[in-house]
Amino acid sequence: MTQQLKIAVLPGDGIGPEVMVEALRVLDVIEKRYDCRFERTFANLGGIAIDLEGKAFPQTTIDICRASDAVLLGSVGGPKWEHLPPMEQPERGALLPMRKLFNLYANLRPAIVFPSLTGASSLKKEVLGEGLDILVVRELTGGLYMSQPKGIEGTSPNRIGVDTLRYSEMEIERIARVAFKVARQRRKNLVSVDKANVLASSVLWREILSRLGKEEYPDVTLSHMYVDNASMQLIRNPRQFDVILCENMFGDILSDEASALSGSLGLVPSASLSEGSFGIYEPAGGTAPDIAGRGIANPIAQILSASMMLRYSFSMNDAADAIDAAVTKALEAGYRTGDIFLGGPGEKKVSTVEMGTAIIDGLGR
Ligand code: IPM
Ligand code: MN
Repeated sequence: MTQQLKIAVLPGDGIGPEVMVEALRVLDVIEKRYDCRFERTFANLGGIAIDLEGKAFPQTTIDICRASDAVLLGSVGGPKWEHLPPMEQPERGALLPMRKLFNLYANLRPAIVFPSLTGASSLKKEVLGEGLDILVVRELTGGLYMSQPKGIEGTSPNRIGVDTLRYSEMEIERIARVAFKVARQRRKNLVSVDKANVLASSVLWREILSRLGKEEYPDVTLSHMYVDNASMQLIRNPRQFDVILCENMFGDILSDEASALSGSLGLVPSASLSEGSFGIYEPAGGTAPDIAGRGIANPIAQILSASMMLRYSFSMNDAADAIDAAVTKALEAGYRTGDIFLGGPGEKKVSTVEMGTAIIDGLGR
């Protein structure tokens, strides 16, 4: 029987709608090849939702996401909405409540350097080596960004800005399990990042990681690294890393740093997962308002986000592998959107649609 899967499609703002078209074209091919049906329901999120429905994360969108097996998201935000109060702006008004509402506590952010793109990375070839593949696991619903109390108290000039970094054992354990499990499916090397020389939450974090590692995941090599050192090691010797596990803010920062190794944010997908199979999948790169609407954005991050959706929400590992391989093949054949075009021999500068077509050709129509 044909497998029926419900996807909420939220193209969002900026380049979101353009790159989403390419990811959906890839899914069309997957439907034919793997005997499945992706039932797609479109909804507004971010700036477009503010414009059309008055809110960054409207109830209609919440309902459509709730009724879906997974959410494929473009990206949200742009200069048009920057005059709004921070909490009403598309990014914070849409992404943060979405993470909370769906309990998306595990954020997976791969930083992959495709061998054919080594020259596009900000690091030297000698440091990078061939084909780097790091996965940052970021805790996404707790820690410094989400804990209470939070706010600005008192009256000027004596106001105090307060944020809290709080983690319960349960929160640490569940994100640790995600990290151990993905490490187990990879090179079995987990670096847990903390600041246990200063932060109490990190002392607890480290204690729980060590216990879980010893009791339940002895096959995974676990080490601990202070966050300041980790930020340095990432650019000094990135090859030592396989899976990196971080608290919310540390993960926000280190995942951006790791993604810079890839050469372009246009290559980096992400998955935000809850218990069970529901997840939200989106490119890490943002809306790129400077190039939006010109048909030149790189669709690879969006296409790889769709691949992560097949892998993590639908357990379609073969289809996900096929997409990943088709992306590698298109890059090896020299197809380059502007963000990764270096003008080297064999490189062909292509549009968003042409890159999508190259990847689809690699999949075999
Ligand atoms: C990210 C973004 C968000 C975050 C912002 C826009 C709230 O930087 O997804 O990394 O900090 O989580
Ligand atoms: Mn960020």
